[in-house]
Amino acid sequence: MKLLFVASECAPFVKTGGLADVIGAVPKALAGMGAQVRVMMPAYPALAEVLATGAEVMGFADFHGGPARLVAANAQGIELLLLDAPHLYDRAGTIYLDANGQDHRDNHVRFAALSMAAARVAQDGIAGWIPDLVNAHDWQAGLVAAYLRQSKRATPPVVTTIHNIAFQGVFDPGVMGPLGLAPELFHPEGLEFYGRVGFLKAGLVYSDAITTVSPTYARELLTPEFGMGLEGVLAARQAQLTGILNGIDLDAWNPETDPALDTSYGMRSLGRKARNRDALRRRFALSPDAAGPLFCVISRLTGQKGLDMLLDCLPGLVERGAQLALLGSGDTAMEQAFVEAASRHPGHVGAIIGYDEALSHQMQGGADAILIPSRFEPCGLTQLYGLRYGTLPVVARTGGLADTVIDANDAALQAGCATGIQFSPISAPGLDQAIARACELFAEPRVWAAMQRRAMRHPVGWDQSARAYLDLFTALLEGRQ
Ligand code: ADP
Ligand code: GLC
Repeated sequence: MKLLFVASECAPFVKTGGLADVIGAVPKALAGMGAQVRVMMPAYPALAEVLATGAEVMGFADFHGGPARLVAANAQGIELLLLDAPHLYDRAGTIYLDANGQDHRDNHVRFAALSMAAARVAQDGIAGWIPDLVNAHDWQAGLVAAYLRQSKRATPPVVTTIHNIAFQGVFDPGVMGPLGLAPELFHPEGLEFYGRVGFLKAGLVYSDAITTVSPTYARELLTPEFGMGLEGVLAARQAQLTGILNGIDLDAWNPETDPALDTSYGMRSLGRKARNRDALRRRFALSPDAAGPLFCVISRLTGQKGLDMLLDCLPGLVERGAQLALLGSGDTAMEQAFVEAASRHPGHVGAIIGYDEALSHQMQGGADAILIPSRFEPCGLTQLYGLRYGTLPVVARTGGLADTVIDANDAALQAGCATGIQFSPISAPGLDQAIARACELFAEPRVWAAMQRRAMRHPVGWDQSARAYLDLFTALLEGRQ
């Protein structure tokens, strides 16, 4: 099966969040099951070296304001199709934001261009390689399905995957013409969204199937609380919507071989994890001899992640003898609040503002538990890394967090299947109680160690989910015959 993935980020090349991890990992898992996957993404400056090793497979004289070409390259075991269009992607700032932290003003053009080029590849192929199916990810690839729908030619099936419905790519209707979108698509059952153009909505209405990244989020999306205005659209397409849980790259995230760690360890050498904790305490200027657990947070600092609630819980956390090491970036006010909290609780709370891949590994390796109090979480990956590293997840009961962590209630503890703590309602008092429960469990070293071993045995790889994607893709292809 030949698959074209279309996405705006892919680890290890360009990453702002979990989408990149997923796009970097699934193709390898699918390849192991016999599929041929090509990942199409913009050739951002971070990909310059990879770009230089590739071969041009398609050229565009004038593509949305400048010349563009498609370059095929293989890097880190991933077959990439890079859309090289410097006028669109060679920018200061991040891949989505300008140097002032605002969306690039032409994001609609930048990602419509990606989708339009992907639609070309879907129909014409490159060098004789024509995909059997396209999997478009998030709003940045939402228009792939629209461009294919408006073309009069035969098209492969399209699956649109929702990683986070909070980001919908909604723009002024005036963009339709310049982006080459047919006016007849602009209606409520099409890509019109409250008088504007919804890129993700286009993907939801024009795809053959829709997936999202956990079964619980697939159900939550049908409610006004989580659907963010698209719940009705999704309800109408409920039969085509499935939740397939994300996995993680077991090679990149392995405490036995992780080069970022001070000391490697495994299920049978859990004692060695303490050395990583010592290193982490030094890095965050935390006192070396706290009695309670060392909690960590590795996160974007946005409303989604619920970390404002954690600020309210810090006095209680410190009083219980626990510590917190936080790595994150995002909302300036929240960054500031954690820096101030660290100075209010020296030796007990440490905060590093920024994005640091190696440090994120060291934190999974050294912390006792990871806090994820998200208000909503389509899947979440840091709890999966936590399970793999014996760093017990303390999570809000929502989305993929609810699907991957087994709460240490009495029944689960007795059955020996608990892997972490879930809390609900998702509120500061709820989180505070969860922190208290974690501290109580930590005070019983045998119980805690048993949970760690159970967590480390929990299957978090891609095998099962990659199979679920392949089954879905196969069913769609058979449906076309
Ligand atoms: P989301 O995609 O919503 O941000 P996920 O849990 O799915 O949430 O994925 C987040 C990914 O980004 C994880 O790989 C996590 O380790 C990483 N990450 C988040 N913030 C940082 C940071 N400040 N430094 C390093 N890695 C981070
Ligand atoms: C989004 C979601 C996160 C999910 C990731 C990868 O960024 O916020 O929950 O794990 O996509 O699917």
